[in-house]
Amino acid sequence: MSSSLQICSNATISQSLNLRRLFDRDREERQRQVVRFNCRKPFAISCLNVDVKAPVGAGKIGLGRESKEVMEAEGKVMVGTYARAPLVLASGKGCKLYDVEGREYLDLTSGIAVNALGHCDPDWVKAVVDQANVLTHVSNVYYSIPQVELSKRLVACSFADRVFFTNSGTEANEAAIKFARKYQRFSNPDAAQPATEFISFSNSFHGRTMGALALTSKEQYRSPFEPLMPGVTFLEYGNIHATRELIQRGKTAAVFVEPLQGEGGIYSATKEFLEFLRAACDDAGALLVFDEVQCGLGRTGCLWAHEAYSVFPDIMTLAKPLAGGLPIGAVLVTEKVASAINYGDHGSTFAGGSLVCNAALTVLEKISKPAFLASVSKKGLYFKEILKQRLGGNSHVKEIRGQGLIIGIELDVPASQLVDACRNSGLLVLTAGKGNVVRLVPPLIITEQELDDAAEILQNSMSVLDENGSN
Ligand SMILES: Cc1ncc(COP(=O)(O)O)c(C=O)c1O
Repeated sequence: MSSSLQICSNATISQSLNLRRLFDRDREERQRQVVRFNCRKPFAISCLNVDVKAPVGAGKIGLGRESKEVMEAEGKVMVGTYARAPLVLASGKGCKLYDVEGREYLDLTSGIAVNALGHCDPDWVKAVVDQANVLTHVSNVYYSIPQVELSKRLVACSFADRVFFTNSGTEANEAAIKFARKYQRFSNPDAAQPATEFISFSNSFHGRTMGALALTSKEQYRSPFEPLMPGVTFLEYGNIHATRELIQRGKTAAVFVEPLQGEGGIYSATKEFLEFLRAACDDAGALLVFDEVQCGLGRTGCLWAHEAYSVFPDIMTLAKPLAGGLPIGAVLVTEKVASAINYGDHGSTFAGGSLVCNAALTVLEKISKPAFLASVSKKGLYFKEILKQRLGGNSHVKEIRGQGLIIGIELDVPASQLVDACRNSGLLVLTAGKGNVVRLVPPLIITEQELDDAAEILQNSMSVLDENGSN
């Protein structure tokens, strides 16, 4: 008996048969819709791992009718939180994306550092489909195997002893904030007021919910929503001298830091800075939290960005690439932190669902292979080198920096015109920092040939910075 019929086990047999007929009719209609959709758009079947061919090159042809319709409808029915690029994407395969008119784009955005295995990786698709056929969600009222398996794998390949799942990066940081507060209360039971404050840094980005937003440095994200969570002090990223006095026993609950800042402009911490933070937190009884939502899971060529420094946190937050495009977040903690957390202290309906965890198991298994990580490092060095060769001599380029496959090109002008010009030539890239940094975060499976193609489009697009008085 199919699972759809089991849910109505109290119904009579004839009711069940009627229900089955309805269900089958509905399924047939859905299948007809998929066929209709695929007939109109040959590229849409790319997720079925059929070799796809679509017209190369983009933008210059102008927006098609279908794109315009979607964009106009979005403007009428959705809350205007996103200043989207004028691009309606329909399918993807590997490092390529296809818009609704069938134009092909080389994707160096990975859905903002999410699609580490590219689009529609066959193993990932199999993990999702297999699990969807068995069990998608049960809530955390019950145990489920993929969640426990994923936790075992995360513990085995990190500093951590235990895992808590969330649905996003910002939620992972919210959980870390609560865990830090609870840890201070638990470990200082006699203190009239345990440490409740936090340290964060310039150019930091930790998310947009109220707690994570309070730790995020960008003024324009924060000010419309004040008052935020009190007790957060921002210090200069990398400045040991400024930080020394401010991590204080009885006051500082935790220090939140990205070992490599993504949204902030692709800035790497130094070993000295992270070592100092570790020692200062230990001296003050504060927790050290590494936010590896963007830089973690192989992006820098190490499984965890902090491994390169041999400095280890008490808590690490993860999200973006972990489930290869499905929503997930995770908080990895030491036993010391976990022992402060009791039943009911935190929770989530969706977090750690069977479907996302099974997808994440596949992602983690593929990314954590030493040969995979070595290939990320090698391709990262190669990409930085060819970018330096092609763009280094341009007067608008101030610096090309980053580690592995998270690379920033800092310009002396806003990067948006360059981003638009690249998109018009079939290359998708992001901005970062104060809008003056081009952020390159391709799928980690990208080939050297695709990196060459990207560098060439970037080079050919640079002239736009000299047009329309942009310099
Ligand atoms: C370092 C870092 N932390 C947290 C977040 C928030 O993650 P999410 O958008 O999944 O809430 C981001 C998102 O870009 C991030 O880069």
